[in-house]
Amino acid sequence: MIIGHRGASGYAPENTMAAIKKAINMSCNGLELDVQLTKDQKVIVHHDWNVDRTTNGKGEIKDLTLDDIRKLDAGKWYSDEFIGEKVPTLEEVLLEVPENLFLNIEIKSKADDNRGIEKEVIELLNKYNRLENTVLSSFNHLCLERIRKINPEIKIGILFEAYLLDLFDYIKKFKAYSIHPCNYYVSKELIDKAKDNNMKVFCWTVNDKSRAIELSEMGVDGIITNYPDLLKK
Ligand code: G3P
Ligand code: CA
Repeated sequence: MIIGHRGASGYAPENTMAAIKKAINMSCNGLELDVQLTKDQKVIVHHDWNVDRTTNGKGEIKDLTLDDIRKLDAGKWYSDEFIGEKVPTLEEVLLEVPENLFLNIEIKSKADDNRGIEKEVIELLNKYNRLENTVLSSFNHLCLERIRKINPEIKIGILFEAYLLDLFDYIKKFKAYSIHPCNYYVSKELIDKAKDNNMKVFCWTVNDKSRAIELSEMGVDGIITNYPDLLKK
């Protein structure tokens, strides 16, 4: 599977409707999107903890309301062509994305944040009948534990930044659907172990064609990329 990272973020401002629509038009198999909770508990699609880099505003997402965030421009930082793009809500994205497109929703939540983003995300997926075709991933494994408690069936993806020697022992408790390693740590051995444990492997972020071919030959199930069209070829 070719999965657009933050949409087709090589061609449009990450995590905006413009990037999402481009990824859909590039016929990718799935979309990877980051989600966070605003001050007023709305689920928005956004990567950084603050709005400083990718909008014309300033401040932490957790300190801003959806109304505050909706006033910001999320396109100009990338190029003038995208002036007017907004930070979308997860709900808007679910309304736009065709049902057959696989979603990898990465929950960005700090370890001490107990406001319940997991519940909000699952409720939205349920409302739009997207639970089947979605994997919820996070670097915050407390968040994944909470997801598993809320829903014993939902697909969980374990994100990790460094390779853990006892990875498969450690992740047993999550009953995960997939592992999501940085592509540098992917080897044939890791993929075979994942298959033995009945888990899929989705690796990030691969923008180089020859590395994509190597990973594909090793047997990864999905590649997360900023350039879905290049990797499709
Ligand atoms: O989900 C894979 C990848 O997106 C994780 O890293 O920083 O791009 O969210 P980041
Ligand atoms: Ca991400």
